Amino acid sequence: MPDFCVLTYLKFYVECLERGKMSKVFRFIDLFCGIGGFHYAIKNASKANKSNVECVFSSEIDPFCQESYESNFGIKPSGDITKIDAKNIPDHDILLAGFPCQPFSIIGDMKGFNDTRGTLFFDIARILFEKKPQAFVLENVKLLVGHNNGKTMRKIIKTLSDLNYNVSFKVLNAIDFGLPQKRERVFIVGFKNNLNFDWPKMNIKMKSLDDILDDQVDNKYYASKKIKNKRLSMKNKPNETTIWHENIAGNISIYPYSCALRAGASYNYLLVNGERRLTEREMLRLQGFPEGFKIVCNYTQTRKQAGNSLPVPVASSVLTNLLSAINNESIYPNRIIDSQIYLLEKETNKYGTPKTKKRRKVRAAVST
Ligand SMILES: C[S@@+](CC[C@H](N)C(=O)[O-])C[C@H]1O[C@@H](n2cnc3c(N)ncnc32)[C@H](O)[C@@H]1O
Repeated sequence: MPDFCVLTYLKFYVECLERGKMSKVFRFIDLFCGIGGFHYAIKNASKANKSNVECVFSSEIDPFCQESYESNFGIKPSGDITKIDAKNIPDHDILLAGFPCQPFSIIGDMKGFNDTRGTLFFDIARILFEKKPQAFVLENVKLLVGHNNGKTMRKIIKTLSDLNYNVSFKVLNAIDFGLPQKRERVFIVGFKNNLNFDWPKMNIKMKSLDDILDDQVDNKYYASKKIKNKRLSMKNKPNETTIWHENIAGNISIYPYSCALRAGASYNYLLVNGERRLTEREMLRLQGFPEGFKIVCNYTQTRKQAGNSLPVPVASSVLTNLLSAINNESIYPNRIIDSQIYLLEKETNKYGTPKTKKRRKVRAAVST
């Protein structure tokens, strides 16, 4: 086969694979789905990767979250995951789970994944065991990493590795991904194959609070005179927009960003300029939810939902790199490249083409 025929064949082959990539639909499941932070994130990631995603199963125990999820995605999540047989969950490529931060002391001195029984992590593990998706992303509070001197995390990673996944984890902060919210979360990713996954770069400029907060809000969001006066007696009000954070000891700190939204915090935990609560929409913006997200529950429920949710841009960045790693694997699986280079070298050797020239041609053929 002459040199140019090999290259033409190689180009055609890569184009076919490229076309395959465009039409590939990644099926995902959304466990502990809340109001769908992961659902938005994977949709963003699929756009960035020019691939398609489809939610084939979701689970959420809280009826208000179910209502929000259904209103926004047209899918009513199944209920309690502990009651769902993994065999009844549809096949999928990617498992997503922002699992609740249970008291991790439950995960005792376990030796294998059976010893995680009684934790919601066990439910993730048993689904991975049964369905063997090619990748997963889990999300939890940063505290998980240091819990019990790191033992809990080591046990989680060991369990996932024993299920034959290549696992890595990283703590990421929403403030590094453009959101004016300090929210540190651990992300755990796993792949069946040994893929070239990079954690996202954290260099997105933080939006200012003025980009997120409304100029005028209803009077109902304002704190009582007593609370406002108490705040002002403790701190001077800066000229710029700030969020005043009250810690458990009652100390006030003032920042040009928000501290982590929390589902169960007191109503005065975060006050804009020391005087008013965040509106439902502002809380969702602080988590990176789109303006089109329909708010269908009351203030108390929406506040809880936003506080439990994940920062969408962080999860989008992780999933963009994850889909890219999977896509690259399916376009350029090593064995295909190896065999193509072997073929090319074998054929071009017949014609005495120098090695350096061949390498350049291979690279050019693969990258065009
Ligand atoms: C940390 S939140 C995850 C929120 C989600 N990532 C989001 O973007 O909104 C955990 C969720 O798990 C749900 N949950 C707790 N126990 C559950 C169970 N046994 N089955 C299904 N969902 C459960 C909670 O109601 C909560 O909404």
